[in-house]
Amino acid sequence: MNKDDLRKKIIIALDVKNKEEAVAAVSGLKDARTFKIGLELFTAEGPALFKKLKVLRKGIFLDLKLHDIPNTVAGAVRSAVRHGVQMMTIHTSGGRDMMARAAEAARETAETEKVERPLLLGVTILTSLKSAELDEVGMKSDVAGQVLRLARLAKSAGMDGVVCSPQEIEMIRKEHGRDLLIVTPGIRPAWAAAQDQKRIMTPAEAVGKGADYLVIGRPITGAASPQEAFARIVEELERPDDPADRKDRS
Ligand code: C5P
Repeated sequence: MNKDDLRKKIIIALDVKNKEEAVAAVSGLKDARTFKIGLELFTAEGPALFKKLKVLRKGIFLDLKLHDIPNTVAGAVRSAVRHGVQMMTIHTSGGRDMMARAAEAARETAETEKVERPLLLGVTILTSLKSAELDEVGMKSDVAGQVLRLARLAKSAGMDGVVCSPQEIEMIRKEHGRDLLIVTPGIRPAWAAAQDQKRIMTPAEAVGKGADYLVIGRPITGAASPQEAFARIVEELERPDDPADRKDRS
């Protein structure tokens, strides 16, 4: 895989509170291609930020984890397509019809507006939820079983892929082969601190297990030189077997 394809695999999480901080982070990462805008930044700045990213020629991953009635979610997807986002997230637990209507809205709007259709990604079980909490909200099955069930539903309802933890990559790949894209956070290079992420993998490990895209925030945005940290991760993906990248985290 060439360097630019590897760069496209890394999505930078813009976990900042306003557009000034977002633009500063994006401007400092000239080789990064795609940036994730989540609830905090979107609620603060709205779609005006999309224009800024487009001027800087960056792709947008809109991570709002939509979950509402099918009509409302389809409407939100149409708006996002018109803004030219490349990827967006939808909760799989919103059900088959909600996802199917979202997929249909994305296809139709992209065709009418003559823009690229965004990739629709299903969120399965939030990794912040433990088994006991799932039980509290009425989900009885084990986490892995529930993730597989929702990934299956996402695929049959027309989602392009799922967001999952690094630990879930292999089981989803095993069942779906290359038919579902896999996007994973919880990534930590061997040289970066784990912070609050618990079940982590290095970038090369996650790609080796079958991840298509890696969502990485603080190891890059919080580094002394974000551009160097980004380049170092791309190099690790280029030569995944280098033992220097595997030394124990200290
Ligand atoms: O800074 P860090 O690399 O931990 O950022 C990871 C990003 O992925 C954050 O935006 C975080 O909200 C998101 N995320 C996560 N774990 C999940 C789902 C999303 O870390 N299960």
